[in-house]
Amino acid sequence: MNALRRTADHGPAGLTKFHRLLLEQVGHEFTASHQYFALAAWFDDRDLPALARVFYRQSLEERDHAAMIVRYLIDNHVAPDIPGIGEIQTSFTEPRELVALALRQEQQVTEQIKALAKAARDELDYTGEQFLNWFLQEQVEEVATMSTLLNVVERGSGNMFDVETWVTRELSSPAEGDSNAPETAGPAVS
Ligand SMILES: [Fe+2]
Ligand SMILES: [Fe+2]
Repeated sequence: MNALRRTADHGPAGLTKFHRLLLEQVGHEFTASHQYFALAAWFDDRDLPALARVFYRQSLEERDHAAMIVRYLIDNHVAPDIPGIGEIQTSFTEPRELVALALRQEQQVTEQIKALAKAARDELDYTGEQFLNWFLQEQVEEVATMSTLLNVVERGSGNMFDVETWVTRELSSPAEGDSNAPETAGPAVS
């Protein structure tokens, strides 16, 4: 119903802070997806296929996170004005830098999701708060994975063959389908 549709600039009541931050989060998730793709391509180009595979897959997951938020916005009558993506980093000298960047990015997203949860709680948006539970849980897993991977890369001190073997053994199987995952706008890709 158009009369109830809220947008950032106008509409009956304007956007709540929670909805405004959610729209921004769509941009952050797409940026994370783009950054992961760039990291994957760097590994791919250096014949590190196991690391490349993990990061390509992660890129798809971030894209799905964006699509889940878009689905939520549409279902809640918020105009899905998709933001552009932010700057990404593409130049690196060694594998450690890429994994450290991925970890920093996940920690940053965790802070963003927490700020979203706080906004939902402050505005007594119970549905919004509940929607974020899955994302909070997901962030715990992703930060843990990247922090373990960083330890493995550091322990390998430059021996990428060992790192590739570890990644193949520990990180190769895609996460099993998560029945609690929120629905995406359009088909999920991961
Ligand atoms: Fe994400
Ligand atoms: Fe992530």
